[in-house]
Parts: sequence; C-alpha cells; structure tokens
Amino acid sequence: MSQIHFIGAGQMTEAIIRAALKREAVNPDAITLSDIDPERVATLNARYGLSNTQALPDALAAADYIVIGVRPQDDIPGVAQLINQHASPRATVVSIIAGVTLARLALLLGENRPVARIIPNTLTDTGLGYSGVAFNAHVDSAPLMPFLESFGKVMLLEERLIDTFTGFAVAGVNYVYYFVEALADAGVLAGLTRAQSTQVVWENLVGAVSMLKLTGCHPRQLMDINNSPAGVGINGLYELNKSDFAAGLQSSVLAAVRRTTELSGQ
Ligand SMILES: NC(=O)c1ccc[n+]([C@@H]2O[C@H](COP(=O)([O-])OP(=O)(O)OC[C@H]3O[C@@H](n4cnc5c(N)ncnc54)[C@H](OP(=O)(O)O)[C@@H]3O)[C@@H](O)[C@H]2O)c1
Repeated sequence: MSQIHFIGAGQMTEAIIRAALKREAVNPDAITLSDIDPERVATLNARYGLSNTQALPDALAAADYIVIGVRPQDDIPGVAQLINQHASPRATVVSIIAGVTLARLALLLGENRPVARIIPNTLTDTGLGYSGVAFNAHVDSAPLMPFLESFGKVMLLEERLIDTFTGFAVAGVNYVYYFVEALADAGVLAGLTRAQSTQVVWENLVGAVSMLKLTGCHPRQLMDINNSPAGVGINGLYELNKSDFAAGLQSSVLAAVRRTTELSGQ
C-alpha cells in the first residue's frame, strides 16, 4: 500500500486519518506525520496506532503521497522547500489548504510536481458529503481515488469553481444543521416534546432525500403530492413564502462564496 505523509497534524488531518483508517483505505503503518508540535504527532500516533514513527526527512523521502494540512497563514513556502528537498519527484502532493491555488503550488513545488487540490468537508466521519477536488495535469488519479473517497464523496471540479464549492458545499452543512434546529423548535412551539420533534425532523429529512433519490422527481413535484387544494401543507408553505425563506438562504450562500473569494485573494 502507498505511503502517505501528512505535514500539519491538526484537526482536518486527524479527521482524514480517522476516516481513511476506518474505511481501510490506508494501513496504520503506511501513515507518517510531521507537525511543528511533536506532541501532536505523538498524540495522533498513539490515538490511531500509527506504528511507522519515521521522522523527517526520511518519512518525506519514502512517501508516495504528501498531504499538506497546514493553515493558509502558515509557512507554506517553508513546507514546499522541505518537499522539494526531500521528497521523490514522483510523489503526489495533496493540498487541503483553502484558498491556495494550483498555480501558487506550482510556483512553490515546481511545474512538474503532481498536485491535487482538495477541499474536504467536515462530514468525514460519515463518508457522506462531497470533497471538491481539482488535479493538475501530472496527477495519476486512479490510485489516489480510494484514499480521497475514504473521507467523503469526490466531486471533480474545474479549479475556478473551488471557491464556489467551498462557500456552497462545505459551508452548506451549516444550513442543514440550522434548518434542523429551527424545525425542531417549531415542533416544540406547536406542543411536541423536544425528543419527539427532533425524531420527526431527522426522519423527515432523511426520508425526503430518499424520496428525491428514489423517484428522481423535482422537489416541487413531491410537494404537489404532499399538498391537497386548500389543505394543511399549502397553507403552511404560503406562510413560509412570506418569510423570504428561499431568498434568505440564497443570499447566505452568495455571502459565503464572496467571503471564500475574499480570503483566497489575501
Ligand atoms: N476545518 C475545515 O473544515 C476545513 C475544510 C477544508 C479545508 N480546510 C483546510 O485544512 C487546513 C488545516 O485546517 P485545520 O482546521 O486542520 O487546522 P489546524 O487544526 O490548525 O492544523 C494545522 C496544523 O499544522 C501545524 N503547522 C503549522 N505550520 C506548520 C509547518 N510549517 N509545518 C508543520 N506543521 C505546521 C499547526 O501547528 P500549530 O497549531 O502549533 O501552529 C497545526 O497543528 C487549512 O489549510 C484549512 O484551510 C479545513
């Protein structure tokens, strides 16, 4: 199995490792880690039974894949220099750094380095939710896919859409959590217990998505089935329409996309 070295052993790296091990996409002895903080490496090695404690520079030299998991404000040129010095020219770099483009990575890592740019989501433990993925021309994607698919579904994107994806898809989980909270509150307001209301919301959410997938229908077609003339459902929807629900949601998404673009430019 391929060797994977992670530079930056933070929250996202940990979430990826946990998911990749759970889905057996990587063996524990195929993972090595480095971080400014050696305590963090020791903690993750112990927590996930990572038996290969090879340190830099040997760990980098042995890696087929190098995941850069540091933050945008960290010393990315310093990390790139380490890779250029010690890694095999054939090793593929997988960058999860938000806002750092393939062009910038090519400047730092050389034009010929295979580089994958990934925006993972925070649903890694579920295997659901999409990671946005853009490859440069040198990446051999087939052997990399099982690893990428172990911490989310993979949506291959033109790189120009990565910021939009970040604002819409990665931030988008918020709206679902918020919707669940608001709807459960509504059930409580109407007289159900918190537990009853929450159970109903979860089942309605999962059930509605299953119906959409099962039937292939547009949501409006399914709403029509759910709404008899002058009935309960359409009266409820009428009130919701007056609240600018759709416009509020859509402006929120556009604001998140704008903010992603702003941060990418900084
Ligand atoms: N969290 C998300 O939802 C999400 C989603 C998509 C993408 N991302 C991206 O994932 C990346 C990591 O995010 P995170 O939330 O996991 O951050 P994090 O928990 O702060 O992890 C970053 C780790 O890298 C270490 N580090 C900093 N500079 C380093 C260097 N030069 N060499 C080695 N290690 C270094 C940090 O150590 P110190 O703390 O000691 O500095 C920290 O342990 C970010 O670029 C972010 O844009 C995150």
